[in-house]
Amino acid sequence: MDARSPRGAAKSGFAVPQVPKIALYLVGLIPAAWLFYHGINDNLGADPMRYLEQSLGLWALRFLVATLAVTPLRQILNVNLLRYRRALGLLCFYYAVLHLTTYLVLDQGLDFAAIWADIVKRPYITIGMATFIILIPLAATSNNAAIRRLGGQVWAKIHRLVYVAAIGAVLHFLLVVKSWPPEPLVYTAIVLALLGYRLIRSLYRKIAPQPRSPRRAA
Ligand code: HEM
Repeated sequence: MDARSPRGAAKSGFAVPQVPKIALYLVGLIPAAWLFYHGINDNLGADPMRYLEQSLGLWALRFLVATLAVTPLRQILNVNLLRYRRALGLLCFYYAVLHLTTYLVLDQGLDFAAIWADIVKRPYITIGMATFIILIPLAATSNNAAIRRLGGQVWAKIHRLVYVAAIGAVLHFLLVVKSWPPEPLVYTAIVLALLGYRLIRSLYRKIAPQPRSPRRAA
C-alpha cells in the first residue's frame, strides 16, 4: 500500500509531472465530499443509503486497483508513479472505512446482533469484513517509521497481503450482485490481470538465469 517500497526507489522511469501528494489526497477525497454533499441534500436517488454505500465501496475498489497498477505501469510502460502509491493505498483504506461506517451506521443502525447475523449468514459480508481486516495492517504500516521499524523484508511481506485484499474485494463485489452485470466482471478481470502479471514475472525471474553483476564477473 506504500510508495516507499525499499526496492521502489531504484528506477526513475518516464518523467511524470510531479504533483504534491497532498493534491492527490484532496482530489481523491472529492468523490466522498460529492457523495456526502448530495446525501445531505437528499439528492442520491430513490435509495440514498444504498447509493452511498455502493459508491463508497466502488471507490475503495478503484483505489485498490490503482495501487496495484503502479508497479506494472512502471515495469511495462516505464511510467513511474511510485511516489503516489502510498496515497492511493491510503485512499482505498479511507473509502473502505467510509463504506464500512455507512454499512454499520446507516444500513444496520448499529444493531450489533443484526451485524453479527449478517457476517455469519451472508458470504459477501463475511468476505467484505475479512478484506477490511486485511487492509488495516497495510494502512497502519504505510508510513516511513513502520518501514524503518519492521525492516524492508518484513514490511514487503506484510504488504503482499494487498494481493489477498484485492481478491477479497472483487469476490465481495461478485457476491453482492445477484445477476451478472459487466462492472464486477470487468474489475475482476483487471485484478486478475494485475496479479497474473506479477505471478508470471516472479515465475520467470525464478527460472530465467540472472545476469551476473559486473563485480562478480570480474
Ligand atoms: C468492511 C466490511 C465491508 C462490509 C460490511 C461491506 C458491505 C457492503 C454492502 C452492504 C454493500 C451493498 C450491497 C447491496 O447493494 O445490497 C457493499 C457493496 C460493495 N462493496 Fe463492500 N463491504 C465491506 C468491505 C468492502 C471493501 C474492503 C471493499 C473494497 C475494497 C468493498 C467494495 C464493495 C463494492 C465494489 C461494492 C459494490 C458496489 C456496487 O454495487 O456498485 N467492500 N459492501
